[in-house]
Amino acid sequence: MVVVDGHPVGMQDLIGVNFSTFGTVTSFSWLVDDQRGRGLGHEMRAAILHLAFDGLGAKEASSDAFVDNHGSNAISRDLGYEPNGSDWATRQGEPALLNRWRLTRDNWEQRRRDNIRLDNIEACRTSLPLVVTRSERPQLDMSGQIGTATLTSGWAYSSRSIPATR
Ligand SMILES: CC(C)(COP(=O)(O)OP(=O)(O)OC[C@H]1O[C@@H](n2cnc3c(N)ncnc32)[C@H](O)[C@@H]1OP(=O)(O)O)[C@@H](O)C(=O)NCCC(=O)NCCS
Repeated sequence: MVVVDGHPVGMQDLIGVNFSTFGTVTSFSWLVDDQRGRGLGHEMRAAILHLAFDGLGAKEASSDAFVDNHGSNAISRDLGYEPNGSDWATRQGEPALLNRWRLTRDNWEQRRRDNIRLDNIEACRTSLPLVVTRSERPQLDMSGQIGTATLTSGWAYSSRSIPATR
């Protein structure tokens, strides 16, 4: 949950499927319309990457965005992700092209920030690797193992001065 001045304004997901095997995460973000374009999206992603790499020891992060999603693509580029090909997804029922982005731990380290604080991370580490949740109906993943691992969580606070308008 993204909170500004006590008001919820968006969400920033972090998902790691089979995290304990691959160490990879992907993220999704969303902000209410009137909070976009002020730099919050950038801060949200920086915060969740700090949680992933510093807090949970991730090896690599990825992000996808439709080619015309200038905000999300700009954030990935700014934060050191590298282009990692393309993919197709449906948007309002129509096929649309996605950019795929990949951020290695090395590239994140080079841009590592010192003004992001993680709280309650020990509790997350204890309850995650991380928590392997087995659905009632077992799912077969590509390596033939049963189950899925999903990371949700941790608290990551990013502090940068966000202008009222931009
Ligand atoms: C994607 C999203 C979270 C970005 O958040 P944001 O707060 O608007 O982004 P920022 O203000 O941090 O801007 C980040 C960069 O994108 C650029 N940008 C943002 N919106 C833009 C737009 N509509 N057109 C062109 N550039 C844009 C900014 O100039 C900035 O670039 P810079 O760092 O080089 O100056 C937000 O737009 C959103 O919620 N969109 C809908 C959901 C979505 O598309 N999620 C991503 C896919 S999961």
